[in-house]
Amino acid sequence: MQLFDVYPLFDIAIERGKGCHVWDENGQEYLDLYGGHAVISIGHCHPHYVEAMTQQLNKLGFYSNSVQNPLQKELAQRLGKASGYEDYQIFLINSGAEANENALKLASFYNGRTRVLSMEKAFHGRTSLAVEVTNNPKIIAPINANGHVTYLPINDIQPWKEEIEKGDVCAVIVECIQGVGGIRCVTKEFLQELRILCDQHNTVLICDEIQCGYGRSGKFFAHQHLDVKPDIITVAKGICNGFPMSGVLISPKFQPVYGQLGTTFGGNHLGCAGAIAVLDVIEQEGLVENAAKVGKYLIDTLKAEQAAGNLPHVVDIRGKGLMIGIELDIPYKEPRTRLIKEEHCFTGCSGTNVIRLLPPLCLSMNEAKQFIEKFKKVLGA
Ligand SMILES: Cc1ncc(COP(=O)(O)O)c(C=O)c1O
Repeated sequence: MQLFDVYPLFDIAIERGKGCHVWDENGQEYLDLYGGHAVISIGHCHPHYVEAMTQQLNKLGFYSNSVQNPLQKELAQRLGKASGYEDYQIFLINSGAEANENALKLASFYNGRTRVLSMEKAFHGRTSLAVEVTNNPKIIAPINANGHVTYLPINDIQPWKEEIEKGDVCAVIVECIQGVGGIRCVTKEFLQELRILCDQHNTVLICDEIQCGYGRSGKFFAHQHLDVKPDIITVAKGICNGFPMSGVLISPKFQPVYGQLGTTFGGNHLGCAGAIAVLDVIEQEGLVENAAKVGKYLIDTLKAEQAAGNLPHVVDIRGKGLMIGIELDIPYKEPRTRLIKEEHCFTGCSGTNVIRLLPPLCLSMNEAKQFIEKFKKVLGA
C-alpha cells in the first residue's frame, strides 16, 4: 500500500528529540523552531512527561467514557487553575478540528441558529464545520460548502457589527493570533467590541486557541492579552506535547445535556496523564513566562537587526511570545530550505512569504541567539 500523497515532504526522517533539538536518522542534529507545527509545548521527550505516560500505559491506556475517569477531573481542575477559567467546564476530544466542530455544534444547540462569522485568512481545521469556517476555498470540498459562513476582515469592526445586528448569527470564531493566516494579531479594541456585540445579540464568541494558546503567546491564552472572556475556548496542539488530544472550554452559561456531545477516544487515560504532566512542567519550569521573555527577546532582536540592515528581505516582524511571523519580500522557500539543509534549523511558514516561528516553550535565550545567527547567514548578511 502507498501513502496517500497529500503532503510535500522534506527528505528528512526525524528519529529522536530532546528539548528544542531533534536528530535525523543519520544522527544530524537540528534546532527546532517549529515544534512539529506548534505542538511541542514542554520540549521533546521531557523526562517527567515520558515517565508519567509510561507509568500510565503500564497501568491502563484506555477505557471508555461510560465509567468514572478521575484523571479527567484532575486535568479539568488543573487546567482551570492554570488558565484562570476555574468556573468553566471542559469537553475532551482528540484534535483541533474536532474541538472546533464541537464548539460550533454547542453554539448552535445553544441559540438554535446556523450562521457563523469567521475571519479572512482564518484556519480552524479540515473536518466539516471546522473547514467551512476556514477561509481557504481550496480545502473546502463541495460537500462542506453549506453557506453557513461569512468571512470578514480582521480588526475592522463595522462589517461584523452589521452582520451581528441582523440577529441571526449563531457564533463568531476568532484566532486572536492567526497562525496559518500569517501571525496577524487581533486588537484589544476589536475583540472588546465583538464581545459587546455578541452579548447584545445572543451570539456565541468562540476563541480558537489551538495554535496561539497553552502559553505560546506569553499568557496562558492569547485572548488574555485583550481582556476579554470568550464563551467557548478551543485548545489542542500543546495540551499533550504531541499525543493527540484537544478540549473545548465551556462557560457556565451552557448546560450540559446527556448524549448531546460524545466521543470514543476523547479524554482517555493515557492522554489525561500526559496532559497533567504537561501542566506540571509548564508550572514548575515557568514556561509561560519563558515564552514571554524569550519571545520578546527574539522579536526585539530581530527588529533591531532589521533596522541595522542585517536582515535583507525582511519587511515585517510580528507576533507575541513564541509565535512569531517574519514577512519577507521574497518567497520563504529558499531561505527556509537553506535554514534546514545548511543551518540545520526547522522553522514553520505561512502563505508564500512568511517564516513562522513556533518553537517549544522551553526555548532558551542561547537557542534564540543561535537562531538569529543562522537566519542572518541564510539571508546573506
Ligand atoms: C488555529 C488552528 N485551529 C485548528 C487547527 C486544526 O487542528 P488539527 O490539525 O489538530 O485538527 C489548527 C491546526 O493547525 C490551527 O492552527
